[in-house]
Amino acid sequence: MALPTAIKLFEMAPRDGLQNEPGTLVPTATKIELIERLANAGLTHIEAASFVSPKWVPQMGDASEVMHGIARKPGVVYSALTPNLKGLEGALAAGVEEVAVFGAASEAFSQKNINCSIAESLARFEPVLVRANEAGVRVRGYVSCVLGCPYEGDISPQKVAEVAKALYEMGCYEISLGDTIGVGTPLAAKRMIETARQQVPIEHLAAHFHDTYGMALANLYAVMEEGVGVIDAATAGLGGCPYAKGASGNVATEDVLYLLEGLGINTGIDLQAVIDTGVWITQQLGRKPSSKVALAKGTGTQ
Ligand code: HMG
Ligand code: MG
Repeated sequence: MALPTAIKLFEMAPRDGLQNEPGTLVPTATKIELIERLANAGLTHIEAASFVSPKWVPQMGDASEVMHGIARKPGVVYSALTPNLKGLEGALAAGVEEVAVFGAASEAFSQKNINCSIAESLARFEPVLVRANEAGVRVRGYVSCVLGCPYEGDISPQKVAEVAKALYEMGCYEISLGDTIGVGTPLAAKRMIETARQQVPIEHLAAHFHDTYGMALANLYAVMEEGVGVIDAATAGLGGCPYAKGASGNVATEDVLYLLEGLGINTGIDLQAVIDTGVWITQQLGRKPSSKVALAKGTGTQ
């Protein structure tokens, strides 16, 4: 199948990227600067914060301050995770225009991550969708562990498709399929999409791949061949879920951009500006970007 002619990138660094950061809390001002740099680099969809329990995920405890603090750039969507009505109310008060609910294709992961079963999570998301709809806010849906679970091992594509369908029918405009622990390989990714697309139209599916085993780019290419046109990625390859043992970062935005440029797919995003942002944020965190492209191109100018 031909590759999509356009790809939408959904930037994850401020949320997925920082939520798992060990040690001291990343200052609010650093998060705000990161989001503003990403928007200036041309990213138009940025997951900026997470309105979850600060007891569960301390790094996201300043979600409200972050959302209030950013200088919003016209044309950029700044979204936030909202696992329940309490989270949604916080997000609405902070002026978000898009939120996301997050479920899983694994019962054990659902319990560890959001403290309820898959069925309970779906029931909990219903009023979030209703309230968001009333407020004119779009809702994205995540399904985690689509290519494997740290607690249950293999996950069937049918289970992924079932949860994706439930979220889509509830009103989520897009379903992001997460290889939370980055164990997938291209054939498995392709088969998972082939099954999911039977329940949710392909143009409403996104790929959210972590890069633990270095397979994320290969997996992305495989699902692009299936027609997936939305990719989640985190600058500098930051990321990981605190409730997914062994999960490493998201696929790096820089690496996805390099791949897309090589394929002649223009995103309008400035690769060098993303590299510079990745170098800057990892300096703040005391390490180097895990993006191969950033490392190959040197440290950048910031
Ligand atoms: P719970 O303990 O079952 O909830 O947590 P509860 O309703 O019983 O509330 C317990 C306490 O939390 C109460 O406070 C609530 O007010 C408070 P207390 O009375 O004890 O002081 N609370 C909240 N506070 C702030 N914001 C809220 C909120 N809700 C309740 N929204 C809950 C259930 C879902 C809240 C909890 O399990 C939680 O916060 N989990 C967060 C998990 C998380 O953020 N994981 C990482 C994101 S998912 C991910 O990374 C995967 C993804 O990237 C895709 C992929 O890679 O696969 C998306
Ligand atoms: Mg993730």
